Amino acid sequence: MRVMILGGDGYLGWPTAMHFSARGDDVYVVDNFAKRQWEMESGIEPLLPIPPLHRRVRAWKEVTGKDIRIEVGDLCNHRFVYMLIERYRPETIIHYGEQPSAPYSMQSRTTAVYSQVNNVVGNLNVLFAMKRFAPEAHLVKLGTMGEYGTPNIDIEEGWIEIEHNGRKDRMLYPKKPGSFYHLSKVHDSANVEFACRIWGFRATDLNQGVVYGIDTDQTVQGPDLRTSFHYDDVFGTVLNRFLVQAAVGEKLTVYGKGGQTRGFLNIRDTIACVALAADNPAKAGEFRVFNQFTEQFSVRELADKVAAAGRRAGLDTQITSLPNPRVEMEEHYYNAKHTALLDLGLKPHLLTDEALDKMLAVVRANCGHVEKSSFIPRIRWDAAKK
Ligand SMILES: NC(=O)c1ccc[n+]([C@@H]2O[C@H](COP(=O)([O-])OP(=O)(O)OC[C@H]3O[C@@H](n4cnc5c(N)ncnc54)[C@H](O)[C@@H]3O)[C@@H](O)[C@H]2O)c1
Repeated sequence: MRVMILGGDGYLGWPTAMHFSARGDDVYVVDNFAKRQWEMESGIEPLLPIPPLHRRVRAWKEVTGKDIRIEVGDLCNHRFVYMLIERYRPETIIHYGEQPSAPYSMQSRTTAVYSQVNNVVGNLNVLFAMKRFAPEAHLVKLGTMGEYGTPNIDIEEGWIEIEHNGRKDRMLYPKKPGSFYHLSKVHDSANVEFACRIWGFRATDLNQGVVYGIDTDQTVQGPDLRTSFHYDDVFGTVLNRFLVQAAVGEKLTVYGKGGQTRGFLNIRDTIACVALAADNPAKAGEFRVFNQFTEQFSVRELADKVAAAGRRAGLDTQITSLPNPRVEMEEHYYNAKHTALLDLGLKPHLLTDEALDKMLAVVRANCGHVEKSSFIPRIRWDAAKK
């Protein structure tokens, strides 16, 4: 299969590229290294330094003998995107290439506008390039469970049957997202669904939960193959941050009451889900939505699990509560369906004690340069700058 991975230098994009390459697919990765720029702007670094993409690709070739082709450019430049799709005619396009952080988008007017323009325009350029040069390609688009928010009803997989005033229709599930970043994903979903409806595209929108984990089968094959792992207040996801806090003997910082409940998945399952979607493409004209997570936890439950893992490792891991920098419900109903990927054959890597102990051990072995000040949230939802 010819697979193009947009955002292939990122936390999820790079291991995905290696996974498809290892299987024997032709892999093209695209990135403009915007994430490396945001890191510098925010004064943060991943847990371990990440080699330049060209070095990662050379290391992959040395280890496996396989080629991954790199294209450097901005998805917001439509000429670049047209060139990509015309030259490579991908059969599958996996689109990770967006600004992925809610706090980053909530920092100021500038970062809110940037996040939405970057994400929505980049995605529209991909749709128009597909229309012109690859209308049969399957678009696998990364969305987020955060698009739905925390409604007081069960969350379906993308679509809902609604009966209103005696009439029925199948509608996109209503969205109530919690940041300008999450809103950009809602806009993307609406644009992709529209393209499927009017142009007969085939697309899978993966409403992904919060990802945790550091290793995949490919990242462990050499130090230059590792992926980025953030624990900071801007790009760090909650479980990754708790693991680093435990490793360096800091308190685990729960925002507010900690009853915020979300769907979570191991990075290995991100790769597995994306591969399952790619291998079982949507039908022409179908906008297919999968809720891509394996378990749901409250933030407090996660903190308790990491504290217990810390104790098993002989650490004195404590939990503290910080005033919540976000505007969100801290106790709420949450029940999100997630059966479609299981039906396709997903075998989840669950958050067992053993899995947590292994991740904590890896983080402890690599936590020599942790910047503890970046555990503290700097961006408040109610105080975005003009
Ligand atoms: N990590 C998670 O927990 C999580 C959860 C749900 C959804 N997602 C989604 O998955 C995708 C990947 O997330 P990630 O954690 O790997 O993020 P990441 O920031 O590590 O990777 C995104 C990559 O896209 C690139 N990129 C961004 N804008 C670009 C543009 N205009 N042109 C070219 N390249 C561009 C960045 O440089 C970066 O390398 C994102 O769309 C994110 O919203 C991630």
